[in-house]
Amino acid sequence: MNVLLIGSGGREHALAWKIAASPILGTLFCAPGNPGISEHATCLDIDVENHQAIVIFCEEREISLVVVGPEAPLVAGLADDLKAAGIPVFGPSAAAAQLEGSKGFTKDLCARFNIPTGAYMRFNNAPKAKAYARQMGAPVVIKADGLAAGKGVTVAMSMNEAMAAIEDCFEGAFGEAGAEVVVEEFLDGEEASFFCLCDGTNALPLTSAQDHKRVGDGDVGPNTGGMGAYSPAPVMTDGLIARTMDEIINPTLKGMAELGMPFTGVLYAGLMITQKGPELIEYNVRFGDPECQVMMMRLKDDILMLMKAATDELLWTMSARWRDEAALCVVMAANGYPGSYKKGTAIRNLLAAGALHDVEVFHAGTREQDGQIVSNGGRVLGVTALGSTVTQAQEQAYLAVDLVDWDDGFCRRDIGWRATRRES
Ligand code: AMP
Ligand code: GLY
Repeated sequence: MNVLLIGSGGREHALAWKIAASPILGTLFCAPGNPGISEHATCLDIDVENHQAIVIFCEEREISLVVVGPEAPLVAGLADDLKAAGIPVFGPSAAAAQLEGSKGFTKDLCARFNIPTGAYMRFNNAPKAKAYARQMGAPVVIKADGLAAGKGVTVAMSMNEAMAAIEDCFEGAFGEAGAEVVVEEFLDGEEASFFCLCDGTNALPLTSAQDHKRVGDGDVGPNTGGMGAYSPAPVMTDGLIARTMDEIINPTLKGMAELGMPFTGVLYAGLMITQKGPELIEYNVRFGDPECQVMMMRLKDDILMLMKAATDELLWTMSARWRDEAALCVVMAANGYPGSYKKGTAIRNLLAAGALHDVEVFHAGTREQDGQIVSNGGRVLGVTALGSTVTQAQEQAYLAVDLVDWDDGFCRRDIGWRATRRES
């Protein structure tokens, strides 16, 4: 079968790498792709926002499955437009993508279907939001309702910080995304991300991973898209996975179907493991980036067969098996990220880094210029390794990182610290 993958990040490189290994693959295309992806796929210069152009390409090239990597095209209704044209697509409808696109929508779903999450209220004006935040007391969490590229959440440790965050949202710091604000109870515990494939009716549990959102070692500094990840997350025991499925994932799928918006694709649950058990922080409607990189390294089964089963409503026939090894990904970013940074700086020695045993160097923000790889974004590479423990995967990943010759890049040196501390 011919497949079109949508996206251009490290997540999509990992997906392309894994899809390319599938025995049922004919030709893999990617729009727009990146130089790493182009080793596995034919990259296309199609504007992803032009849904009609994508439909025409799929018809011409007999595409049997479109796999959508990022959330923005899903929230913009790409899956709906493909489906309307009779083209199978792995990813939710715009209605179902509200699970990521609107924090208020997800909180209301949790309330209606009894899914454990922090207490909350939705507001469209500052005075009422402030009054509720004062009533809750610090720490309290302030969230812009819509998509804000991971920057719309403030965990306010003081009332002053909470008041400032509420004002920022309503004064337009996040544009339209902040026209509505959710004020939420602070949940205390260890975070973990848990992933499932969904076919509208059934959910197939995948595995867990842990991201590192802050830019600096020791989890300090501003939030980023994710500076590194490992899988599995030791905090997610079998017992907690079973509870997450029973109390959070399955009620969500049932609820979404009842609301007339059945969910197909990857459901990514951001969880806080509190003293009471797993509670939902947020949903994403796609694989995590860089969580996908570590998951694809550990997946033993065919990702394309799994995605096809999700699209064909046949997930109940499938299982997903994982290598016992841990995987760990270190993101290399351009100096200055997540603030302003340069593009177009030369990166050398990628082949030597990728040649290390059980290492893959996934490209994110790169492009080719005169036969040379140069940086083209904030997060640029995802250096990913397997190891028999997280500690060993970490050693191998940093060996590879140290082979990459890129003057203008940096990375965190402590990815995996929570897990390696448990192992030592
Ligand atoms: P998000 O952008 O929604 O992923 O949120 C960013 C981060 O804020 C999460 O990864 C958590 O660390 C934190 N966070 C969000 N909601 C809560 C909450 N209710 N309690 C504690 N921390 C939270
Ligand atoms: N790494 C966090 C995310 O993909 O949302």
